[in-house]
Amino acid sequence: MPRITIAEIRAMKGKEKVPMLTAYDYTTAKLLDEAGVPLILVGDSLGMVMLGYESTIPVTMEEMLHHTRAVVRGSKRAMVIGDMPFMTYHISLAEALRNAARFIQEGGAQAVKLEGGEMMAETVHRLVSCGIPVMGHIGLTPQSALQIGLKAQGRTPEEALRLVKDALALEQAGAFAIVLESVPFALAEFITQKVAIPTIGIGAGPGTDGQVQVIHDMLGSYTDFVPRHAKQYVKLADLIRKAVAEYTQEVKAGTFPTEAHSYKIDPHVLEEGKKRT
Ligand code: KIV
Repeated sequence: MPRITIAEIRAMKGKEKVPMLTAYDYTTAKLLDEAGVPLILVGDSLGMVMLGYESTIPVTMEEMLHHTRAVVRGSKRAMVIGDMPFMTYHISLAEALRNAARFIQEGGAQAVKLEGGEMMAETVHRLVSCGIPVMGHIGLTPQSALQIGLKAQGRTPEEALRLVKDALALEQAGAFAIVLESVPFALAEFITQKVAIPTIGIGAGPGTDGQVQVIHDMLGSYTDFVPRHAKQYVKLADLIRKAVAEYTQEVKAGTFPTEAHSYKIDPHVLEEGKKRT
């Protein structure tokens, strides 16, 4: 089956909700794909949950491409979106285009995501004109955390108006969808009604066209920080700790492995081998 297309995602608006999850490796991407997740984001959140950085700021193009390739190898049906890292699309239009093209050509992604609204409209337009689908990302934009912090956005009339303008600018520039992160739910709903492209919320309430979660947050495997908007469907960290403790105890006690986990040899062959040594 071919991968989900931009047209299919756009057509979901108003008809069915759009689920999106992050993935950063082959195995997880395969599981998400098999579960029918239509959009897989190789988020720069990998900086924290995969690489142990304190923020997304240090993440490089090479790191993003490495993980994007793994996710593309693991998935068949989902659209894979590569997250453009900090300062790889700000310095010039040419650099933004070159880096976005790397996600498509070298990473095998079908689209890119970048943070910023009206300020990024020209860049989005340029990428889209060159055939690179772009997902926008406004509200709490972690790459701007040094400037705006990590707090919900759009809570003052000025900020709310700014976000509406940003969403409209991204739509006008040709973005095929917009992530709304940590935006009051009534405002997210208003923006969703204002634009004809799908909005994908994270900490933006139930009124957006879709939802995205960081896979480690929803599986409960990353314990350094659990965002308020995350719902843990399972506590994988506890399960992993328990399994690893059990394994460690069994290895120490000599109860693992058993014959069932071992390979057999014909006793004659073994005898022959022993004779020759
Ligand atoms: O990097 C990421 O995982 C993201 C999502 C939270 C939208 O940008």
